[in-house]
Amino acid sequence: MEPYLKIVSTGISVPDKVLTNQDLEKMVETSDEWIITRTGIRERRVSAPGVASSDLGTQAAQMALDAAGISAAEVELLLVATASGDYLFPSTACVVQKNLGADQATAFDISAACSGFLYGLTVAYSLMKSGSYRNALVIGAETLTKITDYQDRSTCVIFGDGAGAMLVTLGNDNNNGIFASHLGSDGKFTTLSNLPAGGTRLPATADTVRQHRHFIKMEGNELFKVAVRSMEEAARLTLKKAGLTTADVDILIPHQANLRIINALIKRLGIPDERVYINIERYGNTSAASIPIAYHEARSKGLLSEDSVVLLVAFGGGITWAGVLLRG
Ligand code: ACO
Repeated sequence: MEPYLKIVSTGISVPDKVLTNQDLEKMVETSDEWIITRTGIRERRVSAPGVASSDLGTQAAQMALDAAGISAAEVELLLVATASGDYLFPSTACVVQKNLGADQATAFDISAACSGFLYGLTVAYSLMKSGSYRNALVIGAETLTKITDYQDRSTCVIFGDGAGAMLVTLGNDNNNGIFASHLGSDGKFTTLSNLPAGGTRLPATADTVRQHRHFIKMEGNELFKVAVRSMEEAARLTLKKAGLTTADVDILIPHQANLRIINALIKRLGIPDERVYINIERYGNTSAASIPIAYHEARSKGLLSEDSVVLLVAFGGGITWAGVLLRG
């Protein structure tokens, strides 16, 4: 039997500062009613000046290590999924490695925007099955508010900060853990959401700063359509790999991008509301951090039993999409 990727422990970190819809009403021309109806978001968390994605990622990872009772020195693989890394290089994973003191780990970043955490779990699973590593810390960490334009009402209501982490090992003593995944991407849609400047395509100049090109841009409407399509495909293909159907799913934890996207997705999949975990109203879209935060919350609230079939599904800029199935 294929070994499972066991989830030993989880951790999260979210900044204390809350930015409400009412706060945003004072910053741009918008309303609480518009934001709730169009997105389902009521508030999001904002990191303090000087706090970067690695800081939140380190805290989430430390919480997972403490919960498992293992030291950072024992970590063999350390992956950070992020779209708001501290630097173009070095990787945010290397910064987290230093912060934790995970000296023995191989550390690198995963760039797949909001699908990044599920890409990270899948990469960890493959590397571990090939015998290279015995455990891994997989982290999704974002400080998107640092690259959000608070003069652009079409994006600033969406994004928030946070981090989530999972400590995973391989096991086949019982059936708990990750047992199937599916990844996909389509580079035709690179323009639908991006950060135009600051990379090698458009290096920073006074003009790029003046033109607000160091902030997230997105074509929300177009993204909405591909999001629903790609998440449905990710969900169905992941289930198919495991010989399961949507009827077998006890809990769906989707990427928290927009409540209307989640509702359209579950309608297509035929999964009832009560089998879907949603926390977008409190955090907004935290990109690669959204699924590990939601999974940690669902697990902490006792919503997942040992036998629960949990389907994680995401889409993100690129575009990318991913599904992961686990038990427990
Ligand atoms: N408040 C009030 N009005 C607004 C706001 C706002 N905050 N934002 C836009 N509007 C206006 C628009 O200007 C437009 O007005 P008009 O009709 O006069 O031109 C109207 O509202 C409708 O705008 P739409 O863009 O069509 O609104 P839509 O219903 O599509 O909702 C939203 C916009 C919420 C962005 C939605 O399209 C969405 O969630 N898309 C997916 C975004 C996403 O998931 N991004 C994640 C990828 S990013 C990444 O990977 C890091």
